[in-house]
Amino acid sequence: MKAWQLTRHGEPEEVLELADVPRPVPGPGQLLVRVHAASANFSDVLMCRGTYQIHMELPFTLGVEVSGEVEQAGPDVTSFCPGDRVLGDTALPHGGFAEYALMDASAAMPAPAALDDAEAASFYIAYQTGWLGLHRRARLAAGETLLVHAAAGGVGSAAIQLGKAAGARVIGVVGGPEKAALARELGADVVVDRRTEDFVAVVKEVTGGRGADVVFDPVGGDSFYRSTKCIAFEGRIVVVGFASGDIPSAALNHALVKNYSILGLQGRTYRFLDIESIRDHHAELTKLVAAGLIRPLVSERLSLDDVPDGLRRLGAGTTAGRLVFLP
Ligand SMILES: NC(=O)c1ccc[n+]([C@@H]2O[C@H](COP(=O)([O-])OP(=O)(O)OC[C@H]3O[C@@H](n4cnc5c(N)ncnc54)[C@H](OP(=O)(O)O)[C@@H]3O)[C@@H](O)[C@H]2O)c1
Repeated sequence: MKAWQLTRHGEPEEVLELADVPRPVPGPGQLLVRVHAASANFSDVLMCRGTYQIHMELPFTLGVEVSGEVEQAGPDVTSFCPGDRVLGDTALPHGGFAEYALMDASAAMPAPAALDDAEAASFYIAYQTGWLGLHRRARLAAGETLLVHAAAGGVGSAAIQLGKAAGARVIGVVGGPEKAALARELGADVVVDRRTEDFVAVVKEVTGGRGADVVFDPVGGDSFYRSTKCIAFEGRIVVVGFASGDIPSAALNHALVKNYSILGLQGRTYRFLDIESIRDHHAELTKLVAAGLIRPLVSERLSLDDVPDGLRRLGAGTTAGRLVFLP
């Protein structure tokens, strides 16, 4: 089968190789899935660069998230059968930028009927991260003000929709006018183009000086530092990622005097320590899809050949929503 393999570290367009490899065989607790769609996640880019938290032995097949159809269930798997439509993260080293991938049956989720394959492949990581960040970690309440960075991106677009569904007032920060239009379409009440406006001033202005109750930050660097200038009394900053490449250091004396919390979030950890909660979130998220309150923003449906260039553009920060590859 065709698979994009990572053979050495560097920029995606330089190091990914399209190889002909044997179809993987599901072990105990695993599913062999025929990939219907695989979405591009920032972690795919970081794995190419060798800067992700998880270091895989090379070579391996890249692609952390898919939707597809169960082709074969491994020994002892009773939760899914061949033909079931599933979504979720892949069991690396047998990732999703390929015709077939492996998934752990314990972590696979049924694909909502209302989502097509590309949308289903964009549902798990973005919306679980949004739900965990906003509800589990930050306890976002109706009527609060939520500030979302990279608001037109994969996880950011999900955070806008989930914030609105929770009854929050949402301020989205984006880079450029096209992304600003998308953030408005996603439901953001206020949108700030970080290239031309100062989000700190806007947040202060629209909250009457109080600041944002919750900040959802997938960017790090200046986005984090400047968020501490417009966080409300007893506000919560959720540290989601460092797409800027800059991992900030927190001034704890500042957190102390302003009474705010800095909350770390690693969604993957819940998969290993609390998969029951992940299933519960999936059920809640599926209801929100059915109610028309959330829907993944798939900006481009591409072929498997487009993986290196798609990841290059994601890494450069020029994409919106999710890019999806259809083998
Ligand atoms: N903690 C978790 O469990 C978890 C789960 C999923 C993802 N993440 C993290 O969340 C972040 C976003 O992931 P994603 O897949 O949804 O990507 P994404 O948000 O679609 O893409 C990254 C966005 O970050 C912004 N950005 C700002 N400075 C940038 C720079 N120097 N280079 C590139 N982008 C820059 C860009 O948006 P603007 O131009 O609009 O600002 C860009 O579109 C990543 O750091 C990822 O690792 C964490």
